[in-house]
This record gives sequence, structure tokens and C-alpha cells, in this order.
Amino acid sequence: MKLPNYLEAKQRNAEETEYIYDKVEYPKNYFKNKKYFLKTYGCQMNVHDSEIIKGYLEELGFIETNDMNDAYLILLNTCAIRENVHDKVFGFLGRCKHLKQNKDVIIGLCGCMAQEEGVCKEILNKHKYIDIVFGTHNISDLPRMLIEHDNKLNINVFSKEGRVFENYIYKRDSKYTAWVNIMYGCDKFCTYCIVPYTRGKQRSRKHEDILKEINDLIDKNYQEVTLLGQNVNAYGKDSENEISFAELLDLVSQTGIPRIRFVTSHPWDFTDEMINVIARNANIMPYIHLPIQSGSNRILKLMGRRYTKEDYLILFNKIKEKVHNVAITTDIIVGFPNETNDDFKETIDIVNKCQFDGAFTFIYSKREGTPAALIDDKVSQEEKEKRLAQLNLVVNKYSLLNNQKLLNQTVKVLIQGISEKDDTKLYGYTDTMKLVNVKADKKYIGKIIDVKITEVKSFSLDGHIVSPSLIH
Ligand code: SAH
Ligand code: SF4
Ligand code: F3S
Repeated sequence: MKLPNYLEAKQRNAEETEYIYDKVEYPKNYFKNKKYFLKTYGCQMNVHDSEIIKGYLEELGFIETNDMNDAYLILLNTCAIRENVHDKVFGFLGRCKHLKQNKDVIIGLCGCMAQEEGVCKEILNKHKYIDIVFGTHNISDLPRMLIEHDNKLNINVFSKEGRVFENYIYKRDSKYTAWVNIMYGCDKFCTYCIVPYTRGKQRSRKHEDILKEINDLIDKNYQEVTLLGQNVNAYGKDSENEISFAELLDLVSQTGIPRIRFVTSHPWDFTDEMINVIARNANIMPYIHLPIQSGSNRILKLMGRRYTKEDYLILFNKIKEKVHNVAITTDIIVGFPNETNDDFKETIDIVNKCQFDGAFTFIYSKREGTPAALIDDKVSQEEKEKRLAQLNLVVNKYSLLNNQKLLNQTVKVLIQGISEKDDTKLYGYTDTMKLVNVKADKKYIGKIIDVKITEVKSFSLDGHIVSPSLIH
């Protein structure tokens, strides 16, 4: 039994990152033809971790099922960013509990919630029917934990972390677009955020390993990679001999893969060199997710974001000016403790100034263990909800306005599959990351095609194929 510990998670020691290349050994097909049900919450990082989990499970002989009643293993890969997932996860687990009464079932919890001290205490006190709990730092322990499982609760979560695993196997969800981790963890410690505790200190992968992974993906005909990190532009800063994110982007561009994306960019580390690299390489997509969080300098300071509204605007305008046709989206938190109406007006003001292509908007959620959780907050939840609704109206107005500029235009779309809402259509994304539903033959799945936009909504576009002018 190893429980998470925030004091350890907070430490940022100077030890060199250790790179692990040796494969984990375990008997393949140990669980031959048993079924697993995996549910994933949270960000791209978690979605990508689930691709590792699936890789291990399928090597162990497991087969995926979408019906949890049918599963021998039920595993939840969880997110800790806001309180609401916590309630959903424990609600879900409560429903799994009764399944154990009639048959042999293994119930597991992993991901960022497993890294929370409070969550593991809650499991020990109230949810002993859970079998295995492991964290974000030891996904490769999963096969061993399953094989050794003996119907007793086993919590195995590490908090201090200085390793990068190069021995993962992935079962990727898509044959055309791939996530590629370039770094793990975060050292920014924004005062509201749990991520530096759940994901540990920043550790960059070696650029040679990243490039090797991308070249392997190109050999498999992947069309797009998204470079992943909590703070991609701080890439390399944790290691003396590593190259910068701008240099990495340039090298990735030279691999010739048709499309390159990256998330998330923190405004703090965004250099001119990065902007130039993005501007001059046609296969680096003109799409940047640049979270602002708040438009109030007072709140930005309390959040520990290290930039002002004015700094953000200068950066925003520079990117707009230099990167042709760029789309910029953002994240915004309303109701940070004691946010005043004037603070909130500053947020509306920056949205009006930037006219973002899109924004993810959230009500501040108190996260135990973070500095902001200690602030005595006088603003009511009702007021925060009002502000969120008001903000969303403004945000959505600009999403629509930006989308309307594309009406009757021809844009390049990477077709990714059959549309979920309408199976007579395919769906894909523009270079600026806008979702398009397209009338086209299924043979175009996995291809980049020209699409004429015929209808525009706030969150998606409709269109039809113009000519089969395939890039490949
Ligand atoms: N590393 C990224 C953000 C990752 S978390 C960055 O710094 O930009 C994704 C988003 O969740 C954040 O941008 C923020 O808007 C939101 N978020 C994080 N902690 C939150 C909290 N305690 N309450 C509400 N929203 C939060
Ligand atoms: Fe959280 Fe800030 Fe790190 Fe983003 S940069 S993950 S918001 S601490
Ligand atoms: Fe991602 Fe949620 Fe963890 S946003 S890093 S899965 S806390």
C-alpha cells in the first residue's frame, strides 16, 4: 500500500530526470478473452494515458467492451481538475459495486484523482470494494497489479516523480491522428490548479525519442501529430542539454508529416522564435490554444499566472499579425475567490478585444491542497453562475462570427471518420481546428480534402467535398 502525499508532490528537486527504456515483462495473454471496460475523464493527457492502458490490457489478452455489465475489469481513468468529476466518479463506482455481488469483477481507479490525498483516504474509509488504485506515475505497474490482485484493496500511488518512461506500448484510438507526449508534469503552480501535484515535476522527453516516435507514425501513414504537454513552450527548460520548443517544432516540421499541432501553450514562455517557426512552416497548423484565465490583472496576479492583460494582448496581436490565418482559442475561469464585478468586466473586455475563435469557460472549483483553496471566498455560487452565463454569450458570439468568415470558402479538412450525429456524413477538422461535417465518400477517411463550407454554426461547420485534390 502506497498512498499519495502532497508534500512529496510539491517538491521540485534538482535531480536529473531518469529515462526508462527497458520493457516491463509480464505474461502475455494472462487474461485471455476477458473483457475490460475503460472510462476516461479529463484532458488529452488522460486520453493518451488511456491509450497506454489499452496497450497493456490488450497484450494481457483483454478485449474491450462498451458494456460494463459484461466486463471482468472496470477501470476509471480520472481527472482532478474540478470537483464535478469527483462526484461523477464516485457515483459511477457506487453503481459498479453491486456487480461484484454476483460475479468476479475487478474494479480499478487511476489517473489524476488517484493522486489526490483526500480521494485515497475516501477510498480507504468508504469504498473498500475497489480493488486496485494506481497513479499517473506508475501506469506500467498495471499488469503486475492485475496479475497479483487478490480481492483486497491495493492502493499503489507515487507522488514524487523524476522519471520519463520510454517503454510504453500504445493502442492508439485513431489510425490518422496521434498524440505525442513531449513532456510530463508542470512546474508553474498556478494557485488554483491541482496539476503540479497530480502530474509531478516537469520532465521533458529527449528530442531524439520524440522524433523517433513521429517518424514511426509517419511510416504507419499518420497524417497529424499533436505534441502534448501542460506547458509545451517550456519544453526543454528542465534539462541543461535539451533544445527549445521552437527548435523542436522546427525539427518536427522537417519530418514532413502533413499536420502538426501542440497543446497547451502558456503565454509566459511563448517566444518570438516560436512564432517565427509556426509562421514559416506550412505543416505547423495555424491554431493556438492560449489560455488567458482572467482579464483582471489583480486576479491574474493572485492566480500566479506571471503575465498581465497587457502582456497577453501584445502576444496575442503579435501572433495574429505574423501567423497567416491563425485561430486562437483560450481557457477562462470565472469566480476565482473574491473576483469582483470590475474584475469580471475586465475578462469580458479582453474577450471583446481578442474575439477568440473559441473558449473553454469554467467556474472556479476549489481544489484541496492548492494555495487558492485557503482564501476565504465571499462571492456566492449563484453570482458565479450568472457571470459564466454572461461570459458564454459573449464567447459564443465571437465563435459564430469567426466561423461565419468561412461561409462559401474552400478549406482543407483532414477527414477522421463517420459523423456521430449523422452517419451519412463524415467529420474532420480544418487546419484551424474547426469541426466540419462533410458529405463525401467513406474512401476519404484519413485523407486531407478540399471542402466548401455551406453552413455555419457556433461550434461546427457543414460542407461538401470540392474536388478530390488529395495531398497524397
Ligand atoms: N496547462 C494548461 C491548463 C491545464 S488545465 C494551462 O496552463 O493553460 C485546463 C484548464 O482548466 C485551465 O486552463 C483552467 O482554465 C481550468 N482549471 C484549472 N484548474 C481549475 C480550477 N481549480 N477551477 C476551475 N477551472 C480550472
Ligand atoms: Fe495548471 Fe498552471 Fe500548470 Fe496549467 S500551467 S497545468 S493551469 S499549474
Ligand atoms: Fe488532465 Fe484532469 Fe489530470 S485536466 S492532467 S486529467 S487533472
